[in-house]
Amino acid sequence: MPSLAQTLANARLRVWRSVFRHGFTSSNRNRSLIVLSNFFLHFHPVKARARAMRFTRTFYLGGLSAACFFILTLSGTFLMFYYRPAVPQAYHDMKDLAFVVPSGTFLRNLHRWTAHVMIALVLLHMAWTFLRGAYRPPREFNWVIGVGLFVVSVLLSYTGYLLPWDQLAYWAVTVGTNMVAVTPLVGHELRLLLLGGHAINDNALLRFYVLHCVLLPMVLAIGVGLHVWRVRKDGGIYLPREARDHDHPHGPTEAPVPPAALATPAHIVIVDDGAPDLVADLGDEPMLMTFPHLLVRELVAFLALSLCLVLISLRFDAPLAALADPSRTPNPAKAPWYFVGVQELLQYYPPVVAGVVLPSLLVVALAIVPYFQVNVERPPVWQTAPFRRLALLWLGIVALSWVFCFTGARPVWAIVVPLWLVGVTMSVGALPWPSGPFGVWLRTRSLPFWIFVWFLLSAATLTATGFFFRGPSWSFTIPWRDGIY
Ligand code: HEM
Repeated sequence: MPSLAQTLANARLRVWRSVFRHGFTSSNRNRSLIVLSNFFLHFHPVKARARAMRFTRTFYLGGLSAACFFILTLSGTFLMFYYRPAVPQAYHDMKDLAFVVPSGTFLRNLHRWTAHVMIALVLLHMAWTFLRGAYRPPREFNWVIGVGLFVVSVLLSYTGYLLPWDQLAYWAVTVGTNMVAVTPLVGHELRLLLLGGHAINDNALLRFYVLHCVLLPMVLAIGVGLHVWRVRKDGGIYLPREARDHDHPHGPTEAPVPPAALATPAHIVIVDDGAPDLVADLGDEPMLMTFPHLLVRELVAFLALSLCLVLISLRFDAPLAALADPSRTPNPAKAPWYFVGVQELLQYYPPVVAGVVLPSLLVVALAIVPYFQVNVERPPVWQTAPFRRLALLWLGIVALSWVFCFTGARPVWAIVVPLWLVGVTMSVGALPWPSGPFGVWLRTRSLPFWIFVWFLLSAATLTATGFFFRGPSWSFTIPWRDGIY
């Protein structure tokens, strides 16, 4: 007859086994079971290529964006215990968080700063994914899902902006919804739908609250799940072939993908020259078990991110201006930093162009770029007919410069200067020098790569100008002399 201790041990094991389908040994079989049988971990493969796990491959930017979303969901849920979406209670609840609720300030700070960090990480993730060429087939649809996630992330952050019901919130949302209103044909209806009326009041607050706390997080959660699942189904993290690494040690190469590779089954990995290779054919490519190698790395990255966010939240308080007052417009009324670039554009173009046409064109261009195999060919762009191509390039640059110099109220230098910088850098690749790795790198970049760099530089310059160099009535100010408005 088993002893009491034995019976208890058996019962404990049975309970454990009913929940978890793996044991405690460190065999590879058990490690595989840990990943396969866990709802959260089964998004990972059982093993992955060692090169894919390198920090510099992705900087874990996608994973860290997801981690921010997790922290936001958690801190947001706690905030909901103290917040009422009504005017003016919403503002008083913010004050209560600061002065009455234990750790309320910290909670609010954590939520606010994590939201900003998430937008920055998503942007960096998008840029890094593009620049290393991971947007191309067979990952093009996942890239499109990513563009959707970016839009939803920005909307999620923006809808949260109104909730404190202070001057900052009220006027940032006024600027934003006025831009929505100028959308051709549907603008007014869209604004009406968003605000639940013609003014920003209780109705608008409730709508933004539901969008912010229920609808958009649901869409984002489903979207992120789909996105991460697709990363696996598209063959895992994009890796340039080792041999190509050796040829071009300073960056991924870019090449067209043959049509046959477009319908790639999940077990096939597309390497950068477009030839589909079976995973098993990758030869002696070193593989590592996901548990513990990848999971430990992810845990360390998550803890490092959490530590940074906690420190920022302890050190810096989230702003809270005076109670929203529709009769008193702050000057300047700046949008959140991720919209300041658009607000800066409003100085040059009418709202319909700056607020609707150009941002929509940008999002559409981003979404469709992987479907155009423009100049992703080898040999490098300047190898054939360099003079004709150079002439075409500069014709394009001059035409675009004309558009951005003469179609607005004044020249948009924040777009034209990056355009010329990119043009000159590209053209250097047509010269016999520089040689060496830098020369090879320069000549093997594709046209979409350079266009993306132009977009990035222009967006960064517009945002920095609006954020640091604009003051009352959007006049030019010097931040180190006049301060940041
Ligand atoms: C809420 C936002 C997002 C989350 C949580 C997210 C999450 C992830 C994760 C976890 C990965 C695996 C690799 C890594 O950690 O970097 C990944 C890969 C990827 N993401 Fe995202 N992502 C987001 C937004 C975006 C955006 C905005 C884009 C592009 C427009 C994008 C495009 C891609 C692509 C193409 C891959 C595959 C990269 C490769 O194979 O190397 N994602 N994402």
